[in-house]
Order: sequence, then structure tokens, then C-alpha cells
Amino acid sequence: MKAIISEKYGMPETLKLGEVDKPIPKHNEVLVKVYASSINFGNLALLTGKPLPVRFVFGLRKPKYRIPGGDIAGVVEAIGKDVTQIQIGDQVYGDLANNGWGAFAEYVAVDEKTVALMPSNLSFTEIAGVPMAGTTALQAIRNIGKVRTGQEILIHGASGGVGTFAVQIAKALGAEVTAVVSTRNVDLVKSLGADHVIDYKKDDFVNDTKTFDTIFGVNGSQSIFTYKKKLKENGVFIHVGGANNQFYQTMLLGPLLSLFGKKKFITFLQRPNQQDLVFINGLIEEGKVKPIMDRSYSLNDVPEAFQYFEKGHSQGKVIITME
Ligand SMILES: NC(=O)c1ccc[n+]([C@@H]2O[C@H](COP(=O)([O-])OP(=O)(O)OC[C@H]3O[C@@H](n4cnc5c(N)ncnc54)[C@H](OP(=O)(O)O)[C@@H]3O)[C@@H](O)[C@H]2O)c1
Repeated sequence: MKAIISEKYGMPETLKLGEVDKPIPKHNEVLVKVYASSINFGNLALLTGKPLPVRFVFGLRKPKYRIPGGDIAGVVEAIGKDVTQIQIGDQVYGDLANNGWGAFAEYVAVDEKTVALMPSNLSFTEIAGVPMAGTTALQAIRNIGKVRTGQEILIHGASGGVGTFAVQIAKALGAEVTAVVSTRNVDLVKSLGADHVIDYKKDDFVNDTKTFDTIFGVNGSQSIFTYKKKLKENGVFIHVGGANNQFYQTMLLGPLLSLFGKKKFITFLQRPNQQDLVFINGLIEEGKVKPIMDRSYSLNDVPEAFQYFEKGHSQGKVIITME
């Protein structure tokens, strides 16, 4: 079968399309013919081995996972003898980040608990953008932020893969959403349901005095003290991504600031979860969430897809299609 192969750490241009053996599912696994995948920042860490601490997980000197790619959408072609939830012919999707990666390939064999049935109203290319980005938004907003009806949430960086899901999921949970985006993305986030939009190219985000119950930090490079100022008395700042200063400040200062005040500062890490995919299916089928696709590339063009993605200006998800 065809697959994208990563033999050494480096830039995405070093990736090659090659031939590898088609996997054989173990007793607890399903063999999925992959129709589409998508790109996430976790893929870049897997390819480049940066920041260096990720090498303790991904391999010290070279990637221990030869085939990158986390998100899959496809059809089950075979099942192991202990598989109980999934049948041959099922259309499934999932996030392989804790299951050996390998999504940029024509086939993958994965534990049945890694995948969920696709919602009935989306194509493979549409749903392929959901697993990692959608569950990141869901877990952070619902589980960590405990966002509920009437709360005010600020989503800083609302126009990319994670941010476009965050706006819709926060709205579905009943929150009043303020989205921070650049001028070209104002209409996009309004169309997703944002109640208020701050254009970071024009508006004075730092000195605006409005405060929030939850701040979801997806992109940007604000100081943790700016976010502190913008939280209500019992507010929560959830760090998801963005510039390095946001990550290091939240990781190092967040626990201290949380200890000595009512405002909480949390560094969040997504974990693949089948039940969360099922929950998002419900939101998709009810029409409350729809994946936003920026553009798609063929498997052969994965290096170009990464070159586009790593510039950090995608509007929604960058999709990879296998055929
Ligand atoms: N913690 C976790 O478990 C976890 C999981 C997944 C992702 N992440 C992290 O989450 C972040 C977002 O991931 P993603 O896949 O959504 O990225 P993405 O799709 O590449 O995000 C790109 C979007 O961000 C916007 N943006 C860029 N700079 C911005 C700024 N200063 N302020 C506001 N918006 C800005 C871009 O529009 P403009 O350039 O036009 O503004 C673009 O629409 C990454 O840092 C990633 O590493 C973390």
C-alpha cells in the first residue's frame, strides 16, 4: 500500500511517498481503508522532533513511528476475532495519536476503541478534520472550563482548526462567545455563531475592560497577566496553544497564580477519546457543529500541505485525501 514515510527528523519536505506492507489487524483491531486524514500541530512535532522534549515520546534519534498522521476517516475492511463494536463495512473516524499514528496511508489497523461510527450527514473529507481538533475543543471547554449556559467565553484564535470547533461547541453548550481573530476571519466566526468579535488587527484587545468566565487560549502571544486581567473573579484560563510564551508562562506561573487567587490557569493536553467522538457526532447530526475545511491535498502532496499548514494561517482544517 502507499504511505507517507518519515525516516528521520526534519522539515516536512523530507517526507516521501513509498510502498509498505498492508497491515494485518490483531484480535482487538479493525483494518480501515483510509479515505481522508487531516493535519494537526502534533504531526509537526512528530516530524521535526521539536520541541526537543517530544523526542522522549516520539524517539530520541529518529521517529519511532514511520508513518505520520493522526486523524482518519474511512471504511472497515476486516476485523480481528475479539472486535465487538465495529463491523466490516462501517464508516468510521478517529484519532490515532495514542495508537501508533500511521494515518497518512491507504490502510491502517487500529484498536476498535480508537474509532467511532461517522455521523450520517458528512463525507470522509469533512469528518477527517474532526478527531483531534474537535476533541481538543470539546475536552477543554466542557471538561476543563465546565462552560455552561449563560457563561461568557473568550476564544483567542478562533479561526483555525481548533478555534472553529471551539466557537461552535461553546455555543452548543449555551455560552456567549467572543472570538478574537484577524480581519479576514471576522465573517467566518460570525457565521459559526460568535456573538462578539474582536479583530486583533484593529481593536485594542489588551486595554478592553470586558471580563470573561472562561478564556480559551488557542492562538496568539498574550501575556498570562493580560489574560488574568480579563478573567472574572472565579474565571479559568485554559492554555491550548499559540506562541511559546503562552505555554511557558501558563506552565510555570499558572500553578502559582492559581494557588494564590480564585482565578485558575490551566495547561491543557488533549487525549484521544472514543466517547468524545460520539458526543461530537451528536452535535454534528443536530446541525450544531460543522467542520470548516480550508483546503485539501492528495497523499502525494503531504509535504506541500505541511508547508502551508505550518505558516499558521489556515481557516479551519487542512485535509489529506487518499484518492
Ligand atoms: N493542547 C493540546 O492538546 C492541543 C491540541 C491541538 C492543538 N493544539 C495547539 O493549538 C494551536 C492551534 O492549533 P490549530 O490546529 O487550530 O492551528 P491552526 O489551524 O494552524 O490555526 C491557524 C489560525 O490561527 C489564526 N491566528 C494566527 N495567529 C493568531 C493570533 N495572534 N491571534 C489570533 N488568531 C491567530 C490564523 O488566522 P490569522 O493568521 O489570519 O490570524 C489561523 O486562522 C496550536 O498552537 C496547536 O499546537 C494544542
